Amino acid sequence: DTVYLNGEYMPLADAKIPVLDRGFLFGDGVYEVIPAYAGRLFRFEDHIVRLNNSLREIRLDLHKTVAEWQAIFQPLLDSGKDEYIYLQITRGCAPKRDHGFPEHVVPTVFAMCSEIKPFPGRVTGVKAVTLDDTRWQKCHVKATALLAHLLLRQEALDQDCAEAILVRNGYVTEGAASNLFAVIDDELITPPNSNEILPGITRDVILELAAANGIACKEDVIAVEALKNASEIWVTSSTREIVPVIELDGQLVGPGKPGPVFQKTDQLLQAYKQ
Ligand code: PDD
Repeated sequence: DTVYLNGEYMPLADAKIPVLDRGFLFGDGVYEVIPAYAGRLFRFEDHIVRLNNSLREIRLDLHKTVAEWQAIFQPLLDSGKDEYIYLQITRGCAPKRDHGFPEHVVPTVFAMCSEIKPFPGRVTGVKAVTLDDTRWQKCHVKATALLAHLLLRQEALDQDCAEAILVRNGYVTEGAASNLFAVIDDELITPPNSNEILPGITRDVILELAAANGIACKEDVIAVEALKNASEIWVTSSTREIVPVIELDGQLVGPGKPGPVFQKTDQLLQAYKQ
């Protein structure tokens, strides 16, 4: 378990950051989760574009090219496995705790690689629960300050559900750590990108695959009542791929098993990953 910290590679146990790091004190940082199949980083440029957008949104000045990031991650990857890179960048370590941004501080850059273990619910389907979206108004930023997400996910887990599906002003946004798709009237629908959701890379790939393979799909708002009548619901992310939701708020979704649009799209995604 070699990890990367601020320009050096070391065993995970040796990777340490000072307690005054703003990531620790304030959650003042951003992150990325980038899958790598058989040692190849998946949709790598898209992840770096999203990273750069997150950095710009939190006013953190750090510029590396796609090739520079690639060079940092490559030594961490094992070509024999399906893995993901976790990358975290914080504003760095200031001389004292102060809310205002410190001057002349060097960002902390940390990366590690972990194995992607197939998520069992991907095959069987999972239960989900709708919860009030209590997060801030910059959900398009992949910020490390995840307390609202954690409370929502844990509330779902406490209710024996795998994911929380979040509701803002009567419309569903996304999951606590996933994007949302629904099949309504034979059409695949996902909420449009906005400040209310993270622009998921898996989401983009699914939209592209659907469009290229004759699956009717659109980006549109989904009212929570419409979701309750959907024939299929899925949540998607880099680490879990497409996970069918077979029960929402204690009611079966469609016949209560993963649906045909899921089966087809999942096959397309598996083939695309190779
Ligand atoms: N989370 N929305 C939220 C709030 C997320 O945290 C994630 C992913 C997604 C899906 O994005 P992508 O398809 O690019 O993985 C949507 C990662 C996996 C995490 O926090 O571990």
